Amino acid sequence: MKVLGGSLVMFTEIKAGIRYIGVDDTTLDLFEGQYIIPEGISYNSYVIMDEKVAIMDTVDGRKTDEWLANLEEALDDKAPDYVVVLHMEPDHAGSLQTLVEKYPNMKIVGNVKTFTFMGQFFNMDIEDRKVVVDEGDTLPLGEHTLTFVNAPMVHWPEVMVAFDSASKVLFAADGFGKFGALNGEIILKDISTWSCEARRYYFNIVGKYGMQVQALLKKAATLDIEMICPLHGPILDDNLGFFIDKYDTWSSYRPEDKGVFIAHASIHGNTAKAANKMVDILKEAGEAKVAITDLTRDDMAEAIEDAFRYDRIILAASSYDAGVFTAMEVFLSRLAHKGYRNRTIALIENGTWAPTAARRMKEIIATMKDITLIEDVITIKSTMNDDNIEQMKELAKVLVES
Ligand SMILES: Cc1cc2nc3c(=O)[nH]c(=O)nc-3n(C[C@H](O)[C@H](O)[C@H](O)COP(=O)(O)O)c2cc1C
Ligand SMILES: [Fe+2]
Ligand SMILES: [Fe+2]
Repeated sequence: MKVLGGSLVMFTEIKAGIRYIGVDDTTLDLFEGQYIIPEGISYNSYVIMDEKVAIMDTVDGRKTDEWLANLEEALDDKAPDYVVVLHMEPDHAGSLQTLVEKYPNMKIVGNVKTFTFMGQFFNMDIEDRKVVVDEGDTLPLGEHTLTFVNAPMVHWPEVMVAFDSASKVLFAADGFGKFGALNGEIILKDISTWSCEARRYYFNIVGKYGMQVQALLKKAATLDIEMICPLHGPILDDNLGFFIDKYDTWSSYRPEDKGVFIAHASIHGNTAKAANKMVDILKEAGEAKVAITDLTRDDMAEAIEDAFRYDRIILAASSYDAGVFTAMEVFLSRLAHKGYRNRTIALIENGTWAPTAARRMKEIIATMKDITLIEDVITIKSTMNDDNIEQMKELAKVLVES
């Protein structure tokens, strides 16, 4: 380990011959142009040191120099024989051209689609350096041999994962990723720190492609995996059943926890007041877990995560220009886009002259699969009254018993 230009140059040997050379990014404002990352993010990359040396993915162009310094340190003066590109998205392939130019004898490993995308992102003459692989193909490195498994749409169409039978390591691309910089904790130590930001990552980044994740999990089940190396977040080497179980639950759209999630979008605060009252009413009715979010202010990616996490949801919104208030419109369309399904939904609307929020919410909900919609909509006229409170108590009873 040494310090170069203020940053730490380092690698970590995570298994015999496999070195972590990834980098943390703690100054990016929005990941993928929309997700806040208060704890930063890591762009993971690895080198397999064997008779042949293989680099497993690069990192975001924001971190090329820091990553190259890690790589050089890890290489022990050897030259890389291959760079394996499991995913062409810029947060992983962003440093590829610099790497390809730096090591002219290095071959580039990808599938047909990988190389199509590579030609769109970069202007490189690599025709005689390509190694084109497909499902089941292997790349022998010496002791280590990589086997490629296609994982289309486990985030992009060209995505592959690679399994090293010698070390029993699965290089999982964006699968099993998590928001949050590593700060030196390359391998996960405390399992209880994983789910929250891994779940927000999963439902927002990969969530739309549950079927494809299921397909990958089926293929992975045939492999004897001891360690999962994702492209973001900590490496997983213990209790793998826990993480695979979470991915199975999430990708099959099953609720993870019993609980009621209340999401409100209120213009002047009266609907928000009713939503907060609903929290108390639900607790009095015996509901053990109630979570609430203000869609106009809180992180919407976290609201999406919670909507998927719990089995029941209450949507409370103001009417807005003969529709529903914008934040709710956006929330519901984002949920629909992510394939939201298989949950119980109840509606609270507010309107001063002609309440229309519930009608619009129902229109979007109608595009979702396997939804149980509680028929009785609670309609508030400007401010919650005693009748509304009685209706909310009734709703709580129905939800607690469902
Ligand atoms: C721009 C705007 C448009 C609105 N459009 C409607 C509407 O179409 N129908 C309706 O009944 N109320 C409408 N309202 C009233 C809101 O629904 C009102 O804020 C609500 O009755 C009170 O709840 P809140 O304090 O949670 O916003 C509108 C309010 C605003 C500011
Ligand atoms: Fe990705
Ligand atoms: Fe990624």
